[in-house]
Amino acid sequence: MLREILEALDPQPGQIIVDGTLGGGGHTRALAERVGKDGLVISLDRDPGAIERAEKALHGLPIILAHSNFSELQEVLDEIKCGKVDGMMLDLGLSSDQLADQERGFSFNSDGPLDLRFNPDEGKPAHHLVNTMKEANLADLIFEYGEERFSRRIARKICEIRRDHPIRTASELAEIVRRCVPHSPRETIDRATRTFQALRIAVNGELQALEKILREIPYCVKPGGKVAILSFHSLEDRLVKDAFREKKCYRTVNKKPILADTEEIARNPRSRSAKLRIAEIVEE
Ligand SMILES: C[S@@+](CC[C@H](N)C(=O)[O-])C[C@H]1O[C@@H](n2cnc3c(N)ncnc32)[C@H](O)[C@@H]1O
Repeated sequence: MLREILEALDPQPGQIIVDGTLGGGGHTRALAERVGKDGLVISLDRDPGAIERAEKALHGLPIILAHSNFSELQEVLDEIKCGKVDGMMLDLGLSSDQLADQERGFSFNSDGPLDLRFNPDEGKPAHHLVNTMKEANLADLIFEYGEERFSRRIARKICEIRRDHPIRTASELAEIVRRCVPHSPRETIDRATRTFQALRIAVNGELQALEKILREIPYCVKPGGKVAILSFHSLEDRLVKDAFREKKCYRTVNKKPILADTEEIARNPRSRSAKLRIAEIVEE
């Protein structure tokens, strides 16, 4: 939803904009072209690979790259001696590069390790949780973060199998989950999707990072500046919707979330679950 985000932020020459989720750099590049050489885009990503690729691909554009969690944005701005910025965007979730990397475990069919960390040098990989958590805790995690109705059945099966051998790969876990979740003709997603989502949220502390930045955005973005947040599942979207509605520092720009149009969904099927919310920062 590049067009919608650019329309919302309306970056002007000379402005400073934050892209909290650099990924493949598409949004960062478009923002940098709009703010021009007198402006600046500050782009963050937890994934060292994303930063490394962008150093080459975006060389020469007015961009500062930071290998950081967006929840640490205030520290990043302090470090580069930058005050409040003119606007900010987050495009949550995982990038196509991460999905394609067989060594990261994001793709259900990969025989690489079940890792699921955005930053492979931080925290524990998902196979650690899957092989060590108590059955009841694993079931709660899959239910809470994956909104998976069959969480108890999945956790039981995981524990049964790991008594025999540790579960190591993404494809192995996906196969176990598919055996526990019945086919539904109404569902178009893989039956392993919700369990993988739950584990990814847990290993990356995704909701905690989002909650923290939603609290801190008013200290990072000027009054009158816009914030655009694109989320891909209901847990994230709910946090954004509630913060924009309840915190006095935000004025919601679009009451209903903006959804991807049919053309974008045809081009990129993952965008079917995307929801874009925009708010303006107001002086308290
Ligand atoms: C959907 S992709 C962004 C795609 C990007 N907008 C583009 O144009 O290619 C999300 C990116 O955000 C990163 N990410 C997710 N959570 C993060 C966090 N808390 N802090 C920093 N980066 C994060 C991921 O590593 C991933 O590279």
